[in-house]
Amino acid sequence: MHTVNVTAADKAERYREVLPQIECVIADETDLIANLANTAAVLKATFGWFWVGFYLIDRRRNELVLGPFQGPLACTRIGFGKGVCGQAWEKRETVVVEDVNRHPGHIACSSLSQSEIVVPLFDADGQCFGVLDIDDDKLAQFDDTDAVYLAQLARMLTQAHARQAV
Ligand code: SME
Repeated sequence: MHTVNVTAADKAERYREVLPQIECVIADETDLIANLANTAAVLKATFGWFWVGFYLIDRRRNELVLGPFQGPLACTRIGFGKGVCGQAWEKRETVVVEDVNRHPGHIACSSLSQSEIVVPLFDADGQCFGVLDIDDDKLAQFDDTDAVYLAQLARMLTQAHARQAV
């Protein structure tokens, strides 16, 4: 599989290059699923992470359900407060996990996954509508740099969500 090794400076530079590209790709499309699918594809191709995808809230069941993603097969449903994804939803905060094997409640969709970041996504009214989940097969691949730039991406997705709702 294609993997990309990035230093911290490299990583910030890549985010600065790729976020405007994603903004451009999603700007003219009102379908949220299409926009999330292309976002996952661009992030995966740019950074070479093991798994990049979205879980969206199924309000009827109060669970996250698997959305567009790039990478190996994943769990389809995650409860509120469960796993790293459900924790980010419950706390309404980004969760960075250096070693998933040491993180209480982590749900292992693949034994190859070693580190993870989950970023909650909010609609224009501030309601969480899903999460962006990124996993890597190496330890400690995510830090404040990722948290800062992925929060910027999350704000772009708030706008994409609002365009879909119109
Ligand atoms: N590890 C996640 C589950 C989703 S997979 O990583 C794609 C969690 O603990 O919520």
